[in-house]
Amino acid sequence: MEGLLSGAGARLPVALLLLISHLRLSSGACPCEDPALCNPISGARDFEVFIFDIGGQAWKFYDWSHITTVAIFGKYDPELMCYAHSRGARVVLKGDISVKSIVDPAVRAAWIKEKVDLAKRQHLDGINIDIEQEVAKSSPEYYALTDLVKETTEAFHREIPGSQVTFDVAWSPDCIDKRCYNYTGIAESCDFVFVMSYDEQSQVWSECIARANAPYNHTIMEYEKYIHMGINPKKIVMGVPWYGYDYTCLGLIKAHVCSIAKVPFRGAPCSDAAGRQRPYKVIMDLVNSSISGILWDEEQEAPYLEYKDGHGVFHQVWFDNPRSISLKAAYVKKLGLRGIGMWNADCLNYSGGSLAQEQTAAMWAALIPK
Ligand SMILES: *[C@@H]1O[C@H](CO)[C@@H](O)[C@H](O)[C@H]1NC(C)=O
Ligand SMILES: *[C@@H]1O[C@H](CO)[C@@H](O)[C@H](O)[C@H]1NC(C)=O
Ligand SMILES: *[C@@H]1O[C@H](CO)[C@@H](O)[C@H](O)[C@H]1NC(C)=O
Ligand SMILES: *[C@@H]1O[C@H](CO)[C@@H](O)[C@H](O)[C@H]1NC(C)=O
Repeated sequence: MEGLLSGAGARLPVALLLLISHLRLSSGACPCEDPALCNPISGARDFEVFIFDIGGQAWKFYDWSHITTVAIFGKYDPELMCYAHSRGARVVLKGDISVKSIVDPAVRAAWIKEKVDLAKRQHLDGINIDIEQEVAKSSPEYYALTDLVKETTEAFHREIPGSQVTFDVAWSPDCIDKRCYNYTGIAESCDFVFVMSYDEQSQVWSECIARANAPYNHTIMEYEKYIHMGINPKKIVMGVPWYGYDYTCLGLIKAHVCSIAKVPFRGAPCSDAAGRQRPYKVIMDLVNSSISGILWDEEQEAPYLEYKDGHGVFHQVWFDNPRSISLKAAYVKKLGLRGIGMWNADCLNYSGGSLAQEQTAAMWAALIPK
């Protein structure tokens, strides 16, 4: 920073100097040791590894060798921004707004301006729009949402050259959880969509039993639907879960069928809301005390385990591990998708114990198709 004003600055006219310092202040001074690290990342990488950070210091232990974008869903950490930029990775804001409000174009414009200004001040490289609200097909909100994405992308690309605008969509385009969006319009209007291929049991219409968070077949069928609708595979990033569901079984029979409480969700009689979300690191801590060890379900191509809690009640836990994630990553390659990502990077154990370290490294490695 000093160099700019005292070195090269000495030869600049005063008016220009004032302009530069004004721009610097209004866009937020650069917190990085090397001011060049505050420049936005531009250019595309061949394979996108899109990760969500939910805060804390665990980012220091991420496997940065493949990360291309970090979406900040926790508190802004300037140190993380500087580091990510030093590794050529983008850092993007989280965007969410009530869909009722965005029917008004002035509300959209104000929101977009606020986000662009914030991204500039924090030296960020775009925004990930994560609106998971109910929208009815062809409602005013349906059209407004596509407009919001289009206008956000135009503003970011114009104001922050090289920036990235992405949108999170459900695991299926079939109005999951009553989210009926214009998926082709949204994909066309941003850089790519991140498909949240998890919580796939949010609306269970058949038997109320515990099932995998993201069964293989169930997951990949929906990518074929998105592509069949006309979305270019290069505009799709597959999202995999680094967490699972711990279900309390009302009954558990020998064939590993765990019946669960009926917890309705957005019209369906039962749901994964009957279970409790658990990060991978917590599930790995359950393995030794489980009664089953890690089992593999051939039909869903997913791992699970069973344990008895302190009250003698059986639980069944469904999750994803390197084996199930590698299968999905291979499919990303086969379909020629833009890349892969996960919710969320902070689910792993970065404490440094040798077993934890091994498990954590294997999860990162599984993201990269062989
Ligand atoms: C979806 O959005 C695109 C782009 O704005 C538009 O051309 C298309 O008509 C929309 N489709 C539907 C079904 O509304
Ligand atoms: C589980 O047991 C194995 C083998 O006895 C041991 O090496 C490992 O450290 C244990 N893991 C945990 C998380 O306690
Ligand atoms: C997955 O789906 C395909 C095509 O529908 C089917 O052939 C295959 O048997 C299924 N695999 C499993 C494990 O159910
Ligand atoms: C993480 O690993 C450490 C050992 O390195 C272990 O003590 C701890 O139980 C593990 N699990 C979690 C959730 O941190």
